[in-house]
Order: sequence, then C-alpha cells, then structure tokens
Amino acid sequence: MEIFLDSADLGEIKECIEFIDGITTNPSLIAKAGFKNKYKDLIGEICSTVKGPVSVEVVAHTHTDMIKEGLALKKIADNIVIKLPLTYEGLIACKELSTKYNIKVNVTLCFSSGQALLAAKAGAYLISPFVGRLDDISHNGLSLIKDICTIYSSYVFNTKVLVASVRSPTHVIEAAKLGAQAITIASKILMQMIAHPLTDSGLATFEKDWNN
Ligand code: E4P
Repeated sequence: MEIFLDSADLGEIKECIEFIDGITTNPSLIAKAGFKNKYKDLIGEICSTVKGPVSVEVVAHTHTDMIKEGLALKKIADNIVIKLPLTYEGLIACKELSTKYNIKVNVTLCFSSGQALLAAKAGAYLISPFVGRLDDISHNGLSLIKDICTIYSSYVFNTKVLVASVRSPTHVIEAAKLGAQAITIASKILMQMIAHPLTDSGLATFEKDWNN
C-alpha cells in the first residue's frame, strides 16, 4: 500500500519523508501552510523534496479552465499529479488531461461508488474517496472503499484507490485489509501508527536492565 502525506507543510513533509511515497495537497492545506499567494513556489519546493507523486488541486470551475490550470501546474514539476473535483466539469477535464495530454489525474471529493466508476472510465490515475467526511455524517466511509475496490477489481481499470480524509490508524488498517492501493494521511496519524505504549514500556525496561 502506498502511503501519502496529506500536507503542504514543508516542515511536516521533511519530518515524515522516510515513510511516505508521495504527497496530496488541497486548497485548504495550501492556504493553511500560509503560501496562498506564492503557492507555485511552495509546490515547486515540495516537488523537489519528495520523489513520488505530488497531487495539486485546481481551483477553476469549467473544464476548459481546469485543463488550462492543470497544464500550467504540470509545468512546475514532472512529479505533479493534477487533482480535479468529482464534478461534471471535473470528469470532462479528467478525460482530456488523461487521454489527450497523458497527464496523471487524481479525482477528489468522491463520496459514492457511482462517482468512482465514472472517474475510472474518465481515465483517472487516482480516485480519492473521503472516508472521514462520510463517517462525520453517519455514513460508513470504509464500506464505500469496499464497494469501489470490488467494482474496480471486476474490470480492467488502471485507477488506484487512494483513501482520503483519514481520521485514525484504524482507517488505515481497514483500508489496507480491503486492498486499497494507496492512502493519504496527516502526520499525526503516521506518528500514531509508529507509537505503541508497549514499545515504550518495553524499551524503558530494556534500558533500565542494561544500566543495572
Ligand atoms: C485528500 O486528498 C484530502 O486532501 C484530504 O484527505 C481531506 O481530508 P479532510 O476531510 O480531513 O479535510
């Protein structure tokens, strides 16, 4: 399973670099990093820091503008994946960027398996279903992952399932058990996955015994 960091914070990215296969950003994360006006510089720096794919989201509304924005963003670095919203316009832009320009697209804000099916047919490289935001409204985010993985495995799609809006290490493990190819997580969740109280107490005991 590929693990991406869901962050536009260079400090966090550097801290997690040994554990991650790429980065996902979104307009909220870029704004939070405080670089809204110089976001192209920030993206350039993230792309040179991380070897793997870096998803960068367009903010345009029409497919024509999304394509223009996507092509301009793609010029920043080779490892950029263009992130498009799962809308009518976004799917049209996805098809064109994928087939005509051979650009990798991450289709984001996916909340249903019907949406995921259409994104795969539009040639998406990644589909980003948001599990946490579904759980927040009393739906079952992980059951969406199960449905998408089942549908995708029944056909010859090249689209990878990138589980997004992850709230806990349990989401990561359950998504891995379902066979999702990728997940994007905040640094806090990565650190929660590394830590275990029995590791800490075991280490303290070893140290104490060694010193005695
Ligand atoms: C995915 O690409 C998104 O950036 C992200 O996972 C959204 O998560 P949130 O629901 O925590 O904002």
